[in-house]
Amino acid sequence: MNLAIILAAGSGVRFSSSTPKQFITVGGKPLFCHSVEAFEKHPEIDKILIVTLERFIQKTQAICEKRGYDKVIDVIAGGSTRQTSSFEAMQYLQYVLSENDTVLIHDAARPLLPQRVISEHLSLAHDYPGVITTLPCTDTICESSDGKALSKNLDRKKLYLAQTPQSFRFGILWKAHQQARDRHRTVTDDAQLLVEQNLPVAMAQGDARLLKVTTQEDLAIIRQWLKEMDKNV
Ligand code: CTP
Ligand code: MG
Repeated sequence: MNLAIILAAGSGVRFSSSTPKQFITVGGKPLFCHSVEAFEKHPEIDKILIVTLERFIQKTQAICEKRGYDKVIDVIAGGSTRQTSSFEAMQYLQYVLSENDTVLIHDAARPLLPQRVISEHLSLAHDYPGVITTLPCTDTICESSDGKALSKNLDRKKLYLAQTPQSFRFGILWKAHQQARDRHRTVTDDAQLLVEQNLPVAMAQGDARLLKVTTQEDLAIIRQWLKEMDKNV
C-alpha cells in the first residue's frame, strides 16, 4: 500500500498571518487542498492521512468532505515541531500499515506537486528504504560560523536543495523515529533519520515550482504560477 501524509500542523511564524498559511485560499481552495488533490489524482496512491493543528481538525474534515476526497482516511493532531507531527503520523499508522508499505511525507506548504514527482518516488521506493526530492543548487552557498565573516564556500556540485515529498518503507522510518525520540535527537526532516543510520536515501528529481510557502512573498509567486498554469490549460 502507498499512503501519503500531508503535514499541515505548523503555525507559520515566518508567514505571520492570523490564518495559518495552509488554510489561506489560493487558486479557489485552501492551500493544503492542492497537495491533497495531487495525491487524490495519482492512481498509485491508496490512502491519505492529514496531520494538522488540533483546533483545525473539524474544519479540515469538513473541507475534505465538501471537496469529496475519498482517499483521506483521517485528520489527526500534529505536534509542536515538524518532527513530532511526523512522529504522531507514524504512531497512528502503526495500526494501519505493514512494515513494507510505503509512506510519502509531504509539506502542505508546497502546493504545486507534479504527478511526475510522485511516480518517480514510487518507482525508487521499490529499491530504496528512503527517497528524498532534490534540486541541484544553482547559487553558490557560503558558510559563516559567526554570521559576520565568511568561513568558506561550499562545493556547489555536491549541494542540493531538499524538497518534499520524502518517501520511506514504513517499518524502517517508524523504528528510526522511535530511536530518535528515545535519544532526544532532533532533525529537520525525516530523510536525515535514515542517513544517520547509514541507510540509503535515493534522490528523486525535484521541481522549481515545488517551492515551500514560507513568507508572504512565496505565496505571491505561487499565485502567479497558478495563474500561468491556468492559462496553459
Ligand atoms: N509542520 C507540521 N507541524 C509542525 C511544524 C510544521 O506539520 N509542528 C508542517 C507545516 O504545516 C508545513 C511543513 O511542516 O506544511 C513545513 O514547515 P514550515 O514551512 O516550517 O511551516 P511552519 O512551521 O508552519 O512555519 P514557520 O516555521 O515559519 O513557523
Ligand atoms: Mg517550521
